[in-house]
Amino acid sequence: MRPQAFIQTYGCQMNEHDSNQMRNVLAAEGYAFTDKPERAALIVVNTCSVRGNPENKVYSFLGTLRDLKRQKPDLVVAVAGCVAQQEGENILRREKSVDLVFGPDNLFRLPEMVRAAREGKRLCETGWMPRQRKIQNFIPEEWAERGHVDGVKAYIAITKGCNNMCTYCIVPHTRGREVSRESKNILREARSLVDRGAKEIWLLGQNVNSYRASKDYRFHALLDELSRVDGLERIRFTSPHPKDWDNTLTDLMAERANICNHLHLPFQAGSDRVLHAMRRNHTLEEYLAKIEYLQRRIPGIALTTDLIVGFPGETEEDFERTLFALETVRFSQVFAFKYSPRPGTAAAQIEDDVPRGEKEERLARVLDLQSQITEEQMTEQRDTVQRVLIDGAHPRQRGAMDGRTDGYRPISVTDDTLEIGDLVDVRVTGHRGHWLQGEVVRESARA
Ligand code: SAH
Ligand code: SF4
Ligand code: F3S
Repeated sequence: MRPQAFIQTYGCQMNEHDSNQMRNVLAAEGYAFTDKPERAALIVVNTCSVRGNPENKVYSFLGTLRDLKRQKPDLVVAVAGCVAQQEGENILRREKSVDLVFGPDNLFRLPEMVRAAREGKRLCETGWMPRQRKIQNFIPEEWAERGHVDGVKAYIAITKGCNNMCTYCIVPHTRGREVSRESKNILREARSLVDRGAKEIWLLGQNVNSYRASKDYRFHALLDELSRVDGLERIRFTSPHPKDWDNTLTDLMAERANICNHLHLPFQAGSDRVLHAMRRNHTLEEYLAKIEYLQRRIPGIALTTDLIVGFPGETEEDFERTLFALETVRFSQVFAFKYSPRPGTAAAQIEDDVPRGEKEERLARVLDLQSQITEEQMTEQRDTVQRVLIDGAHPRQRGAMDGRTDGYRPISVTDDTLEIGDLVDVRVTGHRGHWLQGEVVRESARA
């Protein structure tokens, strides 16, 4: 029987993508995959350290593996991802059941590292990939055409690392300096994913729109070329940074049907004083001007964002600017977080002076306001016709299929002729919570 691997993933889409790459690398070594840790010969925990909580989750998960490791001494337990990069040897010291710790830059060496662990070594591999130039094909050539297609969807990493140094953020420390992949390499990967059934591709990077393959070939040029790939129905990307967003990108989104009308543009805080302390390099006014242009050029565009409440020194007045931004933009979805100091970051040097109760209250006010806005938006969707990409069967309702609108809203469609991968026009009939419901618009009804 083939050895089984269990991979547990925390954190962002980049981490999900890394876990997919690990599956590819391990499959080539003869591994199969299981969702039951007790059946596995290899367990990989792919970690995230962006906020305090996920990191605690990792240690408690590792704690639960101790018994298993005692029963199965041959089991290899590996810790990957951002906590691994940041904590390195500490993890080996703190958790005896761990055999291997490795950072994101060492992912493609997984098979040889696991072999060494099987021979009884305890390893910590957190060195950086040798840096060549700002352009670097950090996905080795032989893997560039073997990317994972998950149903109708696939990811492509276009940049790695981040040069921004937002003062609260651990990511530049765990993912290193920014490098961009060669465009040829990215396009080859896109074509291969489409050939293998991908209808929707997500471009990934910590700051996708700082992509730069040369002075004249930046994110705009890449998007332009990708949007011409035959058979690629949908393109999404995450996350762009507001300071690098310019209106020519909005124009391109408006022009190309396959660049989705959906943009995740994190603004983090509404107060210019806080934005400055976060080193975001833009003001709220600049942000709102870009949003205004997006909403004018692409009516109905779905905007989503990230924000942080309780950054050191954030007053009630500062916080009210965040609420003001939510009311002005009317995002379709908001990912809001309580500030948590991360070791080694610039903000961690400043006192974390907003009391926990206050952070919680601010977070609750954000969520309250946003749920009102979401509810209003969902109601406004009624009777509109949305282009939907069908991506799975509805888990409970027989005869219904699930999909996403162009704006990435989840929708279930009652129709028993639909198949995964269909792209259809759907009239929205109502909603339940965050889920829209609808019916296919038939050709005859459309005419
Ligand atoms: N590269 C992306 C996302 C980075 S992490 C970007 O720049 O947009 C995802 C989100 O986590 C951030 O947008 C931010 O809102 C949140 N975050 C990052 N560090 C944090 C911290 N120390 N405390 C609370 N939230 C944080
Ligand atoms: Fe972190 Fe800022 Fe880079 Fe995003 S842009 S990863 S928030 S440093
Ligand atoms: Fe987390 Fe690392 Fe992603 S810290 S958010 S897994 S880049």
